[in-house]
Amino acid sequence: MKALVWHGKEDIRCDTVTDPEIQDSRDAIIKVTSCAICGSDLHLFHNFIPGMMPGDIMGHETMGEVVEVGSGVDGKLKKGDRIVVPFTIICGECDQCKRGNFSVCETTNRKKHLADKVFGHSTAGLFGYTHLTGGYPGGQAEYLRVPFADATHIKVPAGIPDEQLLFLSDIFPTGWQAAVQCDIVPTDTVAIWGCGPVGQMAIRSAILLGANQVVAIDCLPERISMAEAAGATTINFENESVLERLKELTDGKGPEKCIDCVGMESHVMAAWPDTLLDRAKQMVMLESDRPHVLREMIYVCRPGGIISVPGVYSGFSDKLPMGAFMNKGLTMRTGQTHVNRWTDDLLHRIEQGEIDPSFVITHTVPLAQGPEMYQVFRDKRDSCVKVVLKP
Ligand SMILES: NC(=O)c1ccc[n+]([C@@H]2O[C@H](COP(=O)([O-])OP(=O)(O)OC[C@H]3O[C@@H](n4cnc5c(N)ncnc54)[C@H](O)[C@@H]3O)[C@@H](O)[C@H]2O)c1
Ligand SMILES: [Zn+2]
Ligand SMILES: [Zn+2]
Repeated sequence: MKALVWHGKEDIRCDTVTDPEIQDSRDAIIKVTSCAICGSDLHLFHNFIPGMMPGDIMGHETMGEVVEVGSGVDGKLKKGDRIVVPFTIICGECDQCKRGNFSVCETTNRKKHLADKVFGHSTAGLFGYTHLTGGYPGGQAEYLRVPFADATHIKVPAGIPDEQLLFLSDIFPTGWQAAVQCDIVPTDTVAIWGCGPVGQMAIRSAILLGANQVVAIDCLPERISMAEAAGATTINFENESVLERLKELTDGKGPEKCIDCVGMESHVMAAWPDTLLDRAKQMVMLESDRPHVLREMIYVCRPGGIISVPGVYSGFSDKLPMGAFMNKGLTMRTGQTHVNRWTDDLLHRIEQGEIDPSFVITHTVPLAQGPEMYQVFRDKRDSCVKVVLKP
C-alpha cells in the first residue's frame, strides 16, 4: 500500500510499504477513506520529538471502513462498519481507562519501558507518533491496523460526510477538552493563543460552553479571520502587544482563563528576546521547547485563574516564572486528549447541527501529495489551515 513515511528531519515521502495484517485477536484493519495532517505532525517533521525512526508511518487523524477484524473484537466491530480512529490507543479496561483518562491508558504502549524512563510513567500508545508512545504505524496510509480495536474506535453513522466526522479523531475533542478544563463560567474571558486548527476548535468550544468573551491571538490574517467568524475578538501579535490588549479587554484585570494552542514551537520574534534565547538553546539541545506562550499566560492570567495547555511540549522548558505562577494561585491543566471521553457528546452535537468541524478544511488532496502538503501546512502557504488527504 501507499503511506507517508518519516525518513528524518523535514523528509516525509509517499512510499510503497507492506499492507498491515491482523497481529492480535483484538486488532481490526480499516481501509482509510480520509486522513489529515496535524500540528503535532509538524513537531515530528522538525524532528523535535525524540524517538522517531526512519520508516515510521505518519498520521493520527484517520477514518475509514473496517475490512477485517480479529477473533477477539467480540462483536464490537464488524466488516463494513464506518469508524473514526481516536489518536490514543486504549484498552478500555485498565484503571486509567475506567476513569476516562484514556490518553494515559496503562496497557497500550508497547514500548512502555521507554516512556516510564523518560516521563516517569508510560502514556497510552499513540498512532503515527514517537517510539516513546509505542511507535505504532499511523493512518496517513491506504490501510491502518487498529490495535485494541474493540475499544479504540468511534462508530459513526452513514449519511454524514467524512469531512464533518474526521476531526473527532483529535482536534475537535482536543479543542473541547482544552475549553472544558477551564471550568468556564458565564462571566469569563477566555484568551486563546494560536488560531491553528486546535485553536479554532477551542474558540468554538469556549463559545459553546458559554464564555462571556473569547480573545484569540495569532499573526496569520486568514486564521484571525476564521476566529472572528466564530465570534472571537482577535489580537495580531505582530501589530500590537498581547499583554496590553488583554488587559485593556478585561478592565485591567487579565483573562480568567488562558489556553495554549501553540505548544513548543512558538514563533520567534526580535521583539520577544526570550524566544531568541529559546531558539539558540534548542539548536544546541540545551532546551527542548520554546515556551513563550506559557510565560505570557502565567504573566497575564488573572490571579486564581486557570491555564489550559493542549499545545504539545516535548521535554524541558526553561525560565518558567514559577514565582508568578505560585503567588497568583494559578492552576494548570494539560494532557494529550482523552478522545473517547468526549466523542459521544461531540458526535451528537455534529448530528444535531450544533457545530460542523469541516469549516477548518482549506485543502483536500490525494495522499501522494502529502509530502508537499507538509511543507505548505508548515509554511502556512496558500492560506493553509487544515489539510485532508484522500488515499
Ligand atoms: N493535546 C493534544 O492532544 C493535542 C492534539 C492535537 C494537537 N496538539 C498540539 O496543539 C498545538 C496546535 O496544533 P495546530 O494543529 O493548531 O497547529 P498549527 O501549527 O497549525 O497552529 C499553531 C498556531 O499558533 C500560532 N502561533 C505561533 N506562535 C504563537 C504565539 N507566540 N502566540 C500566538 N500564536 C502563535 C501560529 O501562527 C499557528 O497559527 C500543537 O502543539 C499540537 O502539537 C495537541
Ligand atoms: Zn494531533
Ligand atoms: Zn487502558
